[in-house]
Amino acid sequence: MKKILVTRRLLRSCEDRAKEMFDANLNLNDELYSQKKLIEMSQGCDGILSALTDKLDADTINQLPNSIKILSNFAVGFGNIDLEAAKNKGIAVTNTPDVLTDATAEIGVLLILGACRRASEGIEQARQGGWVWSADLLIGKQLTGTRLGILGMGRIGQKIAKVAKSLGMIIHYHNRSKLSEDKEQGAIYHDNLKGLLSVSDVLSVCCPASKETIDMINKDTIEYLPKGAVVTNVARGDIIEDEAMIDALNRRKVYAVGLDVYKNEPHLNKGYYKHKSAFILPHLGSATKETRTAMANLAIDNIDEFFKTGNCKNKVN
Ligand code: GLV
Repeated sequence: MKKILVTRRLLRSCEDRAKEMFDANLNLNDELYSQKKLIEMSQGCDGILSALTDKLDADTINQLPNSIKILSNFAVGFGNIDLEAAKNKGIAVTNTPDVLTDATAEIGVLLILGACRRASEGIEQARQGGWVWSADLLIGKQLTGTRLGILGMGRIGQKIAKVAKSLGMIIHYHNRSKLSEDKEQGAIYHDNLKGLLSVSDVLSVCCPASKETIDMINKDTIEYLPKGAVVTNVARGDIIEDEAMIDALNRRKVYAVGLDVYKNEPHLNKGYYKHKSAFILPHLGSATKETRTAMANLAIDNIDEFFKTGNCKNKVN
């Protein structure tokens, strides 16, 4: 039986499954392993079922025992893993695509609604009680008839587009390449970032973090947005330059932000706390029972497939 290290707690049924299929070393206290501890814990293991909280940089990967042949990441994103370093050491890296599309898109839509309709301020006032209704209490931005720019029209972007369209939003997108008409569903393609941002009354960042997308929304590109735009991010914090975004909120260039992901999570830039118009969530994209179960099972299946066949359809390096 192959031996695996599971770095974080999974839902109980998935941990039971991991134990049935492998000699699984579980993390029952859900301790956040340091890089040093992760290297120690993986001694004698054949694979690691990792999470996005594990920083598997080149230095850490190079110190993993040679017995490790697979890093099965419990996430669709794999920015926490140095793919090149893993490849050079002969380690396969896999992810969990598709199964989290719907749940993550739901949070993407929540961010749009929450930021546009001033949900943070509304929740605060409702909790405090005693607010006085008035015709202009917490007036927000209506979605109907508003242009939504989707940066990264992959599976999650397409699902957000579908829901937003049903709310009456007009969909624009930017991708490396134009989608087929059946995937576009009437959305308008922009072959460059500037084109997309200049029509985005609301922006939804949905692209993966990569060398090309890090800090893509920065001091210069924010200026392409219409004044009073809303910016939401359901993908990865690395794509937005925080200081520039907070400055844009201060100057009211940006009306509100809706964020589920941050640079250096969970230590988000404190500048966001000061803004009532920041609707912020603690990285909940895939957080439903159905989705977390499906993700863990897929991460387990990826290891199984890899050891049975020497390959895996969800291999990303
Ligand atoms: C969540 O953020 C994921 O990448 O799965």
